[in-house]
Parts: sequence; C-alpha cells; structure tokens
Amino acid sequence: MSDDTRFGNMLFEISIVIFFISACFGAIAVGLYVYCKFTMGKCGNSIGLSNKTILITGGNSGVGLEAVREFARRGARLILACRDVKKAREAIRDIQQQTGNIDIEVHEVDISSLASVEELVRQLTLSLKKIDVLCLHAGTGPVDSRQETSEGHEKTFATNHLGHFHLVQLLRPALNPGSRIIITTSMAHEYVRLDFENLQQHKAYNGVLCYARSKLMNVYFMRELAQRLLKDGITVNAQNPGLVHTSGLKNSSALGNWLSETLVAPVYAKTSWQGAQTLIHLATSDELDEVTGCLFRDCKPTRLNEIANDKRAPKKLWQYSEQLIRNTSRSETTP
Ligand SMILES: *[C@@H]1O[C@H](CO)[C@@H](O)[C@H](O)[C@H]1NC(C)=O
Ligand SMILES: *[C@@H]1O[C@H](CO)[C@@H](O)[C@H](O)[C@H]1NC(C)=O
Ligand SMILES: *[C@@H]1O[C@H](CO)[C@@H](O)[C@H](O)[C@H]1NC(C)=O
Repeated sequence: MSDDTRFGNMLFEISIVIFFISACFGAIAVGLYVYCKFTMGKCGNSIGLSNKTILITGGNSGVGLEAVREFARRGARLILACRDVKKAREAIRDIQQQTGNIDIEVHEVDISSLASVEELVRQLTLSLKKIDVLCLHAGTGPVDSRQETSEGHEKTFATNHLGHFHLVQLLRPALNPGSRIIITTSMAHEYVRLDFENLQQHKAYNGVLCYARSKLMNVYFMRELAQRLLKDGITVNAQNPGLVHTSGLKNSSALGNWLSETLVAPVYAKTSWQGAQTLIHLATSDELDEVTGCLFRDCKPTRLNEIANDKRAPKKLWQYSEQLIRNTSRSETTP
C-alpha cells in the first residue's frame, strides 16, 4: 500500500469517527428535546371558571400573565395585585380584547412591604366577598447585594416570603371551604437548607443562596398553611413551573448567556405558556378538590426531598414570621 492510500484511509476513518460522534450528540440533543416536550405537563381539562374569583400576585408578565389569560378565557373574575400597575393595565387590555372577559381588576401592591399589603387588603375588602383561588406568584430573582426594605427586612425574603405570609392572614376571611391557595416555588429550593439563626442573611450574603432559601420557605409555608387550613376545607399546594425561558435564565455571565440562549433554552426551557400549565391545572382540576400539602411539577405531584420534608422547620418559620410581623413598625399609608 502506498503512503497516499494509507493517508487517504486514515482521513476516511477519522471522518467516520467524527461523523459518529456528531451523530451521537445530535441524537442526545433530539432525545432530550423530545423527552422535555413530552414530560412538560399540560393542563388537560377545560373546566369553566364563571363565578369564580381568582386573585393573583405577579400576574402581569411571564408565567403569571399566561395563567391570567387562560383564567380570563374560562370566564373567571380576576384581581391582579401588581407592583407595576401601568404595565399590568396594558397587558390586560390585550387579554380583555382577546377573551371578551372584562371582569379584570388591577390593584397596586409592593409585596415586600407589610404596609402596602395592608393597604391592598383595605382596598379589596370594599369589593371582595370571596376568593376561590389565591395564587401567590409574585417573586424576585437573586439580588446582587443585600438590600433592606423600608421596614428593615432583607428584600428577597420580604418579597418572596413575608409579604405573601401576611397577605394570606389578612385575606383569610374571604377564603371558604373549597378555596384553593397556590404558592409558586422553584427547583432552587432543592439545593439549600435554612439557617434559623440567620434567616435574613445578616451574616454572609449571597444573592443566589438567599433566593434559593426563600424558595424553600415557600415550600415550608405551603406545608404549614395546608396543615392549619385542613379543618376548614381550604387546600394549599405549591407549584414549580420549571425552567422558563423568560425569567430564570437572564443575568448570568456572557458565556452563561450564550449557552443558555443557544443550547439550554431551545432544548430544555419552557415557554411562558408551558410554564403556566401546572398553575392552571392546580387552579382548575376537579381531581384536586381535596388534594392539599403537595408540591406539583409538570401537572403532577412530586416528592419533597429530605430537607423540604423536615418535620419542625415549617412551624419554626411560621412562628418567626408571625413574630417579625408583630415586631415591625410601619408607617401608616394614606387611606
Ligand atoms: C353565576 O352566578 C349567577 C348569579 O349568582 C347565577 O345566576 C349563575 O347561574 C351562575 N353561573 C354558574 C355557571 O354557576
Ligand atoms: C441584570 O442585568 C442588568 C443589566 O445588565 C442589571 O442592571 C441588573 O442589575 C442585573 N440584575 C441582577 C439581579 O443581577
Ligand atoms: C420580636 O421582639 C421580641 C421582643 O423584643 C424578641 O424577643 C424577638 O426575638 C423578636 N422576634 C423577631 C422575629 O424579630
């Protein structure tokens, strides 16, 4: 055999190997894509919501807005509690035209402020007799540096946990047997545990850790609230929308952004509509009339890990939150 032929054969073999390697990667990507799309979870019912009142925080963008669109389509009476009222009004104008449902109100709230939550409830009680579904969906992602609200609470903790904790206590009279409370958490809760000596990160601050802990608090709050409302026939569940393209992926490094935009997002992340399916399922499905205290993902209940399932933590967090609210002095907002 001449050197030329040997060289030719070698090139041929190398290209076959490269071909197979790329084919394998391609197959894995396609497989993962198909797997993700099929296990995504889709709300399968088309149950109507006429005469149902749904109050949602954080309903003016992303997953929350997609859920609002579907609730409106099904005829619900909707109350959106949002920080950015102008943006919310623009969003619902579009939904009202699309669905013909004009029964959508927008109220302003800064969920991180106890005074603002109280003002919201004062406004609501004028028009609100009952809430059938209460969606606690507002939240913030990781914040770079430690910030405090004007009431002196760490911002992520106040936004993602304390405000909703307070809101539920104040809205309790409007909740009746059959009402549902749905709390949005995230898969980030699976990787952390709470430090009860340092719940507001006074010591070392790390934005991502602080965020993940607030999401674990959502799970603990859900469990304790479900226990406490069991005898009243009010159900409480949490939902993890999964990785949604609009929110969780932004604001990392340039490489992180590039990876998430070109690889992770198209293959793995959900659209807002897909991300909203579990919330819609929890709000509507009649199979869930008596299901309480569970975490849902992809429209199915999932197991809690050992830390999320801790026996004492939910009650401890509850007592801390109650005390903290009692201890917080707040300026009267103008009525
Ligand atoms: C909704 O409420 C109205 C007035 O209370 C009642 O007439 C109507 O039948 C109800 N609709 C449904 C679907 O329950
Ligand atoms: C996200 O990025 C924007 C623009 O780069 C910046 O202004 C903002 O503070 C960042 N937010 C977080 C939470 O890192
Ligand atoms: C609330 O105030 C009491 C009395 O000052 C204090 O003992 C307690 O630790 C405070 N609790 C919280 C959560 O701030």
